[in-house]
Amino acid sequence: MLTFQPIKINNLSLKNRIVMPPMCMYSSDDSGLVKEFHKVHYIQRALGGVGLIIQEATSVEKRGRISENDLGIWEDNQIEGLKDLVANLKKYDTKVAIQLAHAGRKCGVRDEDIISCSAINFNDDYKTAREMTTEDIKAVIESFKLAASRALEADYDAIEIHAAHGYLIHQFLSPITNHRDDEYGGTLVNRVRFLRDILTSVHEVWPNDRPIILRVSASDYVKDGIDIYMMKDIVNQIKDLIDILHVSSGGLVLAPINLFPGYQVKFAEYLKEETGLPTIAVGLITNIEQVEEILGNNRSDLVALGRELLRNPNWVLNNAKLNDVRIQYPSQYLRAYK
Ligand SMILES: Cc1cc2nc3c(=O)[nH]c(=O)nc-3n(C[C@H](O)[C@H](O)[C@H](O)COP(=O)(O)O)c2cc1C
Repeated sequence: MLTFQPIKINNLSLKNRIVMPPMCMYSSDDSGLVKEFHKVHYIQRALGGVGLIIQEATSVEKRGRISENDLGIWEDNQIEGLKDLVANLKKYDTKVAIQLAHAGRKCGVRDEDIISCSAINFNDDYKTAREMTTEDIKAVIESFKLAASRALEADYDAIEIHAAHGYLIHQFLSPITNHRDDEYGGTLVNRVRFLRDILTSVHEVWPNDRPIILRVSASDYVKDGIDIYMMKDIVNQIKDLIDILHVSSGGLVLAPINLFPGYQVKFAEYLKEETGLPTIAVGLITNIEQVEEILGNNRSDLVALGRELLRNPNWVLNNAKLNDVRIQYPSQYLRAYK
């Protein structure tokens, strides 16, 4: 079955097509350090046979956190815990990426310096952001670069830049949230500049043989916001700087979304076709028939299961057994899978 077929993207060899997408567990504290929970949580999915684990949004700046409980990679003392986590996950034959994130105006930490491209709040539950100066922009770009070099020290196989779900990079990309009139606002080229500068600076420290994944929201679901066609133009501007596109949607503003199984797959399919990049499809994908359909029709190269993997960490092992596909089971579990 296609689900269990290995794939190599750039120098990243994955044993199957199933990805655990980043999911914030809000289980650290003000230190941003890895805790016991994270080790158990991620190792459980590695044991369960997932091909690629993308660690939850991990903040590149303290003021870039979503909450007081986010994981962090904004200072050197956070490397050791991350390195230990990665080394342990690799023992179970999975590949590991880290999502590098900055919340911008969606930072929900009291007393933080809330920044965004423009001084607009997300909603009344959030403080109004301070409009970033050119110096602020340079500082955040540098923070992404430093975070990438820390991620390399921790030995992640790949990094994912979080440009989706209404967080800082997405705020720059969308005309709804970016009202700047300098070189970082206005035209599409200008709105993409912040992302381009981040990717360029990350490349200075991140080796070419380890993939860079970009997570995007393919639609803002509001008039005059990003739609799939605008996202195609955005990605085509920076596609030489990334290796894999992870296609989600929404999160910029509170807009109604029509949810149904696989509701975002059409976006991954379109962007794969129009950009030529390998993709990860995600969103209400839960069963192997859906995964086979997506892969078989070449709608995406990889498929991420989020909440399904929270419910069922052994999804890969169990589906291989149910379909009589021989895969490498953890030796300790062999008696359950004979
Ligand atoms: C508990 C939880 C936390 C999440 N945290 C993140 C995150 O840190 N970064 C991100 O890009 N998406 C995050 N998401 C979105 C998921 O990665 C995924 O796109 C979404 O859950 C849809 O996939 P699913 O229907 O398979 O769950 C989160 C989702 C959940 C349920």
